[in-house]
Amino acid sequence: MMRVPEGLVIAIDGPAASGKGTLARRLAAHYGLPWLDTGLLYRAVAHGVLRAGASLDDEAAAAAVARNLPADFADNPALRTSEAGRAASRVAAFPAVRAALVDMQRAFAARPPGAVLDGRDIGTVICPDARVKLFVTAAPEIRAGRRHQELAARDPDASYELVLADIRKRDADDASRATAPLKPAPDAVLLDTSDMDADAAFAAALAIVEQALAT
Ligand code: CDP
Repeated sequence: MMRVPEGLVIAIDGPAASGKGTLARRLAAHYGLPWLDTGLLYRAVAHGVLRAGASLDDEAAAAAVARNLPADFADNPALRTSEAGRAASRVAAFPAVRAALVDMQRAFAARPPGAVLDGRDIGTVICPDARVKLFVTAAPEIRAGRRHQELAARDPDASYELVLADIRKRDADDASRATAPLKPAPDAVLLDTSDMDADAAFAAALAIVEQALAT
């Protein structure tokens, strides 16, 4: 392993169930850096809106929740469901929600010794100066298969077809929204994990990071 530079920021973006979370967690452990799963922020905002009895179409209500997220927002297991992901995608399209979450994400990245962040707009909007940027993808059918397997462990009735439809819709919505759409930063390295298991994807990601640190 190369010496880890002071303030190393690794930005990982990609579509739903691309494996970016697993990669982010493993890279963070490898380099001894804290990890922020930014998808949880949007999931927590949507959850807070619904708990307050407001509508997911209410931008002002969602922005108010985003400005007041509790410090332990990530601990709620309800945030991990497919419904929470769909709801997150809706509030994530609101510019006021995104604006409310920018500062805490940038502060997380700026704190020593550095950080790994994963999401949709880390390399493009949150950390455009990140030393390393990865854009992780896989074919929709492969991503749906992985997500379905995760869900089936908890719910044997989970439907692959529904998971695939959900992933396709979320990709289309995330990529077509006006504010911070899902897209690779011009300087991101693309990593297609369609033909890789988790260990192979991690090895490939590690090679990309080490290459970036060597230049
Ligand atoms: O794990 P999965 O990819 O299914 O979802 P996630 O990363 O937790 O993100 C849930 C939703 O939050 C996404 O569909 C995006 O609409 C939104 N999101 C975003 O807009 N920007 C981010 N940096 C992270 C998530």
